[in-house]
Amino acid sequence: MTRILSTERLYFREFTLKDIELLIDLNSDPEVTKYVGEGAIEKTEAVRLLNEVIIPQYSNKMGRWAVYLRSNNEFIGWCGIKHLPSLNEYDLGYRFFKKHWGKGYATEASKAVVEYGRNILKLKEIVGRASVDNHNSIKVLEKAGLKFIEEGFEHGEKIKKFKSAFLPGIG
Ligand SMILES: CC(C)(COP(=O)(O)OP(=O)(O)OC[C@H]1O[C@@H](n2cnc3c(N)ncnc32)[C@H](O)[C@@H]1OP(=O)(O)O)[C@@H](O)C(=O)NCCC(=O)NCCS
Repeated sequence: MTRILSTERLYFREFTLKDIELLIDLNSDPEVTKYVGEGAIEKTEAVRLLNEVIIPQYSNKMGRWAVYLRSNNEFIGWCGIKHLPSLNEYDLGYRFFKKHWGKGYATEASKAVVEYGRNILKLKEIVGRASVDNHNSIKVLEKAGLKFIEEGFEHGEKIKKFKSAFLPGIG
């Protein structure tokens, strides 16, 4: 198992087709999926997500990575940068089990991912979006160094969009 990134308390690895149950478990809590435009999923959908959405991103050295606690190797959720070809944007995203909220893990993971995007992938900017009501996620985007740029509608939902511009002398 290749560790993509490590932080003080976390490490990241790529998902594989053996991780179907992890995705099903994570999406099974309605509070976790409340603002993400998805709900509970079954095996067929988890396999499709892995094959068509998650794993193909890894060929560009990016994507949504499985996040683990270094202290006990527990899977706590995912975080990473996803390329959105239709918008040509690099999107910071994260999703963690509720029992792991309120401990700073999402912020720690997101900061590491933003640094990876800037220093390893050499991205010019990373974008983040969250439902206007998803206050916890908005705080994470801000703490990861992204700045609010605009409100808009995506998939029928009002969202706030954030951006981190890696220009000389900024950020
Ligand atoms: C969005 C989400 C990842 C945010 O998780 P979170 O745990 O609230 O975020 P953080 O990791 O930044 O934790 C922040 C809290 O941990 C606290 N904390 C505790 N120990 C900490 C530590 N050692 N370091 C930093 N913060 C710590 C902070 O004080 C903060 O609490 P506060 O907001 O009350 O001040 C989580 O709500 C989630 O997975 N939601 C479901 C999926 C989702 O909505 N994804 C985003 C779609 S846009």
